[in-house]
Amino acid sequence: MSHKLEEARIYEAREGAAIPAHDRPLFHLTPRVGWMNDPNGFCYYQGAYHLFYQYYPYDTVWGPMHWGHAVTTDLLHWDYRPCALAPDTDADAKGCFSGTAVPAPDGKLLLLYTGVQQAGDSPEEVHQLQCLAVGDGTDFVKEAANPVIGADLLPEGGSAVDFRDPKIWYEDGRYHCVVSTRDAHDQGRILLYESPDARRWTYRTTLDSCRNEYGKMWECPDFFPLEDKQLLLVSPQEMEASPDGEFHPGFGTVALLGRYDKTEARFTREAVQPIDYGTDFYAPQTLLTPDGRRVMVAWMENWATVNEAPRRHKWFGRMTLPRELFLRDGRLCQRPVRELETLWQNTITRRETLDGDAVYEGVAGRRLDLTVTLDAAASPDCRRFTLCFAENDRYRTRVEWSPLYNELLFDRSGCGTRRDIPHLRRLKAAPQNGRLTLRLILDGDCLELFVNDGQRVLSALLDTPAEAEGISLHSEGPLALELVHHTLH
Ligand code: FRU
Repeated sequence: MSHKLEEARIYEAREGAAIPAHDRPLFHLTPRVGWMNDPNGFCYYQGAYHLFYQYYPYDTVWGPMHWGHAVTTDLLHWDYRPCALAPDTDADAKGCFSGTAVPAPDGKLLLLYTGVQQAGDSPEEVHQLQCLAVGDGTDFVKEAANPVIGADLLPEGGSAVDFRDPKIWYEDGRYHCVVSTRDAHDQGRILLYESPDARRWTYRTTLDSCRNEYGKMWECPDFFPLEDKQLLLVSPQEMEASPDGEFHPGFGTVALLGRYDKTEARFTREAVQPIDYGTDFYAPQTLLTPDGRRVMVAWMENWATVNEAPRRHKWFGRMTLPRELFLRDGRLCQRPVRELETLWQNTITRRETLDGDAVYEGVAGRRLDLTVTLDAAASPDCRRFTLCFAENDRYRTRVEWSPLYNELLFDRSGCGTRRDIPHLRRLKAAPQNGRLTLRLILDGDCLELFVNDGQRVLSALLDTPAEAEGISLHSEGPLALELVHHTLH
């Protein structure tokens, strides 16, 4: 083991142990200590789910990238494993950037990641190339021949300056991976490679590109079948807002749904949608569970605002709740993993006709799973519904539904923040079969809102003191609703 890796392991064990559990969310993974960004190497291996992450243990800001590591059997309770990779070879001396993991037929776990290396005389001149490390689920040995996908394997127009985030999978006796690059026209492009052994790779084709429409560089691709479609997930930089308001500007996440002809290696794009409509969601990655569920996890932050975010703990950054993906009416939909139900306690169910303001006994807290079903069809005179949470006399975050516009407004500007960053999001929300459902999951400062059983999802962070626990509901005009509230333990 290199000195750098050993040092990181000693440091994180000591400093991580000093962080009390109540300083962390209950079931959203945070770094053992220091900084976390993208999920990496999310996989199922030897009876447990492994999640690695972009990691700088020594500070709560981004730095030379390591890979942190945690494991879980229920996707909710995580145990830290020792730091998996440190930037300690020539091929990755400037950082072990994002990548993925795949169990090999011989029982080993393979990590394919981006090594950032010096490419010229000035420290700014770096190349991003793909590297391999092989291990047993705890310790990994980097290939002496790294990078395994070098600049010589870039197609015409690709650039080693932006060439990163390989997603590897094993299928039909071969390894496959997709990698992003930024081409000569400043367009993000997803490249497909193949290999018999994860060491010798050949370039096959370009699967898709942003075509001047969905941002510029595309980061962190994922590529997998879901039901009768093939999905390409990407995280574009420099998005422009779309005229219909579906896509917000800046760092976005996009799902491209289409068909895949494996023999020809041809992806045909049929539909495009945002993956998440919130302020804090980026770089998602998926795995397939042993029972066949496609589960996704993402970094619950945003590069645009991360540098001014408060540093209240010895850790910074977190992952979303893992979510099950499925298709409905041609859209990618998401639900919290069903394991979350094992945390339910103190269930309260109410049916009400609300006209004005209401607070319901026992419906409060910051660790909860609350579903409100609005019977829009039976409530023609309701003009507006508002759900407030993480609320006291000083703070509140609200979600407001307008039946007239079939639109949902999320507003966290009153959450306690002192930062002038985006606090509002608007998204379409039309009743389905006469009903609109809002499922709110709160875990301390982490908020995830699932609209219409996962048709649209919004992830956001709050900056609200823990004592603001109130939940109130408001309706202008009579509204029939049902509410199911669970606290989470
Ligand atoms: C995305 C990203 C990746 C890169 C990593 C570096 O958030 O920029 O493209 O590999 O973060 O930490």
